[in-house]
Amino acid sequence: MQSDFIWMDGELVPFAEAKVHIISPTLHYGVGVFEGIRSYQTPQGPAIFRLLDHLERFLESIHILGVRDYPYSADQTRQAIHQTILVNGFGECYIRPLMYLDGPLGLNLDFATPKLAIATWEWGPYLGEEAQKTGIHMMVSSLTRLHPNINMTKSKVTGNYANSLMVKTLALRSGYDEAVILDPSGFVAECTGENIFVVRDGVIYTPPRASILEGITRDTVMTLAADLGIPVVEEMISRDQLYIADEVFITGTAAEIVAARMIDFRQVGEGAPGPIMKALLALYLDTVRGQGKRSPEWLDYLPVDQSVQGN
Ligand SMILES: Cc1ncc(COP(=O)(O)O)c(C=O)c1O
Repeated sequence: MQSDFIWMDGELVPFAEAKVHIISPTLHYGVGVFEGIRSYQTPQGPAIFRLLDHLERFLESIHILGVRDYPYSADQTRQAIHQTILVNGFGECYIRPLMYLDGPLGLNLDFATPKLAIATWEWGPYLGEEAQKTGIHMMVSSLTRLHPNINMTKSKVTGNYANSLMVKTLALRSGYDEAVILDPSGFVAECTGENIFVVRDGVIYTPPRASILEGITRDTVMTLAADLGIPVVEEMISRDQLYIADEVFITGTAAEIVAARMIDFRQVGEGAPGPIMKALLALYLDTVRGQGKRSPEWLDYLPVDQSVQGN
């Protein structure tokens, strides 16, 4: 997660000096907002995948949290992201904007001043390249996913991730790779940092948006599936529907697309990435690297004259 510089409120700060004070409402109460974005190398140089969609969700997350005077527009944030990637000389990298609050402690967002930091680092697929090839073993978490009227699920608020961290840590300590989390009604919601899809008899199913984060990779996969002529249905999914699926796969900016080979010690389908997941992953990787039909509408190219060659 190392880089030369981190962008903090308009300044490019050397990595070791990018610090905030211990008295910070974000640190004490989990009231920050973040995004997870990736840039990929393409034949036309580095490009950021669906940057404007990520920035729209970032601003919406801040709006949902209720911060009223966040000072940066999507365009200003976009320019700052470009600047941060270029100054660090990255081609393919992960991009982490964070809105954090400066000011006295107190349970009142109006006391605090919103700030923006942008970190970038070189990072391969979150669950590993091997996981993309062979699939992972997931558990169904005993912890419930966020209730939509407690921690709002459309918002990447830092505090929401206490749930993800507890679930993921328990999964890893128990020997699994990732966990499926059920919503407060007991239906499949999502994973700790990924959305989930189920394939049965050639149809793709995914939970409706009400109690999940509206993933941008989820939307990408649904669009690419439609392009391939594969029907996608949004409907409630039960835990046992995962066990009897032909394929289960999860999607996210960090993980990209990864199949479940087992869930709760039950083999899923053939116990390996299935044909629909593999077709979607191939098309996804082509698209993010500038080789897909949809690449022009989804890629935000870094300014060429300043980009670092050879990355
Ligand atoms: C809880 C949760 N669900 C789903 C996702 C996938 O979203 P995206 O595809 O936009 O990265 C993420 C990652 O941001 C997440 O944190």
